[in-house]
Amino acid sequence: MVNEYRSRMNQLIKNNLLGIKELSLEEIELIFETADNFKDVINRPIKKVPSLREVTIANIFFENSTRTQLSFELAEKRLSADVVNFSSSISSVKKGETLLDTVNNILSMKVDMIVIRHSSPGAPHFLAKHVNSKIVNAGDGTHEHPTQALLDTYSIRERLGSIEGKKVVIVGDILHSRVALSNIFALQKLGAEVMVCGPATLLPKYISALGVKVELDIRKALNWCDAANILRIQLERQRRSYFPSLREYSLYYGVNKEMINALDKEIIILHPGPINRGVEITSSVADADNALILDQVENGVAIRMAVLYLLASKLE
Ligand code: CP
Repeated sequence: MVNEYRSRMNQLIKNNLLGIKELSLEEIELIFETADNFKDVINRPIKKVPSLREVTIANIFFENSTRTQLSFELAEKRLSADVVNFSSSISSVKKGETLLDTVNNILSMKVDMIVIRHSSPGAPHFLAKHVNSKIVNAGDGTHEHPTQALLDTYSIRERLGSIEGKKVVIVGDILHSRVALSNIFALQKLGAEVMVCGPATLLPKYISALGVKVELDIRKALNWCDAANILRIQLERQRRSYFPSLREYSLYYGVNKEMINALDKEIIILHPGPINRGVEITSSVADADNALILDQVENGVAIRMAVLYLLASKLE
């Protein structure tokens, strides 16, 4: 059994985790199966295993993060890896050093794996082409956020028993969201039906080509789904005004208790964080029993342990 798992581990996982688009269903299922084991580990009194004792990992973040950076760092420490953290705001990037020079300098210090968050879509893919290291994408601009989608779908599977055949709506700023794109790929690979809902100005023109349903009416979308993943408005990525005001957005698309109570069934609520309470979601919805928001954060550590463990098995 253990040998069978080891041979699947070597066959399936790619050399880097750049996006969900590149992952097969078998790879996603292997990550989930591995995360199930690590979830047991992190709920024990001794939350640590020696699996990555010989491995050094650098977390290099060129954008702000609370959940993803801490979750990767904890995952690495729970696996007994050596960890270094790099924040661009206090680094020599401020003196003009390029991304490639920065990473090559970090790798010269005998670092084995790089976890990168960057505002430019494709930055992790660029690194994967040009440096000799394992690369994990922790969010690249508006492109992908693969570990977020893995932890989101893992949390849905945990609460609903499976993903196949489930209806999931992603609500809000789809245009600027890497979480939306990664979730669409992950949910579809796992057999879910996917809908996006938001103001037309925040839905990309090509979105139907991805095979998702499009709904502008939030009440209809909530009535259709089994799970709703509510996204933040990404003001930091918006170059022009896509709606008159946050107040108006909240009036039409903010998910509140009255909307949830009006449904004739129970749905589950997800949010990748950070939450803007009172804008895209009210506290009464975010803090309710059917909201998985803190389960998502807990599962994020197990998912990231699984990804790092499987990738580390590829180190020479
Ligand atoms: N969900 C997420 O990526 O949160 P952070 O930006 O805090 O990492």
